[in-house]
Amino acid sequence: MIGSETGRHNHPVFARLWSLVSDNATAKRVRWELLDGLSGRVAEVGAGDGRSFVHYPSTVTEVVAVEPEPYLRARATEAALDAPVRVTVIAGAAERLPLPDAAFDAAVASLVLCSVSDQAAALAELRRVLVPGGELRFLEHVVATNKAVRQSQLLLDRTGLWPRLGAGCHLARDTVGAITDAGFELEGVRSAELGLVGRAVPFLIGRARSDGARGPADGA
Ligand SMILES: C[S@@+](CC[C@H](N)C(=O)[O-])C[C@H]1O[C@@H](n2cnc3c(N)ncnc32)[C@H](O)[C@@H]1O
Repeated sequence: MIGSETGRHNHPVFARLWSLVSDNATAKRVRWELLDGLSGRVAEVGAGDGRSFVHYPSTVTEVVAVEPEPYLRARATEAALDAPVRVTVIAGAAERLPLPDAAFDAAVASLVLCSVSDQAAALAELRRVLVPGGELRFLEHVVATNKAVRQSQLLLDRTGLWPRLGAGCHLARDTVGAITDAGFELEGVRSAELGLVGRAVPFLIGRARSDGARGPADGA
């Protein structure tokens, strides 16, 4: 990113609210599950205030955490000091990661693929930075299967109301579909309860593996 994209990712009110509301015992358990068993070098995109850092297992040798929002990045830099593993926090956006090719054993996306401006670009970048066969761990809220809920989600997205309230967040994304479309092979996914916004909005926690090819799923 930076430069021209900096303003787009500057959300001081959302950033402070997120730091206040997103921590609870249920969410902590899910974050622990999200990172359990990871090893080697990990890229975490949209790391927020870095509250996942304490949950990384000691088998992880290094985390490079990318966060575009200045307030959250500063909090994440502080959180990195208390992390049980080495964490480096850098500025950047998921659609254009400032990271080298094939340098990470795993990537983590936690409540961020709802907010990126281009999911396909972000997922292509995640594949690029992963070693062939590298793992993507994700925790995301997604479009509901219930028709009434789905229609409300679409309305809130299309009117721009929810993206404005949530710093670019979208409710009606089929994120798991986007992950497989991007060339990841799904290895497991289940619904998760985060204790954040009730049960109407479905949250999914899952793992997927990059097939190692460098282009989109259709081989182009
Ligand atoms: C709801 S917060 C989640 C933060 C953190 N991952 C967590 O689980 O608590 C969404 C995060 O995505 C970040 N974000 C938004 N757009 C992004 C983008 N294009 N690339 C990377 N991060 C982005 C925001 O700055 C924010 O930190």
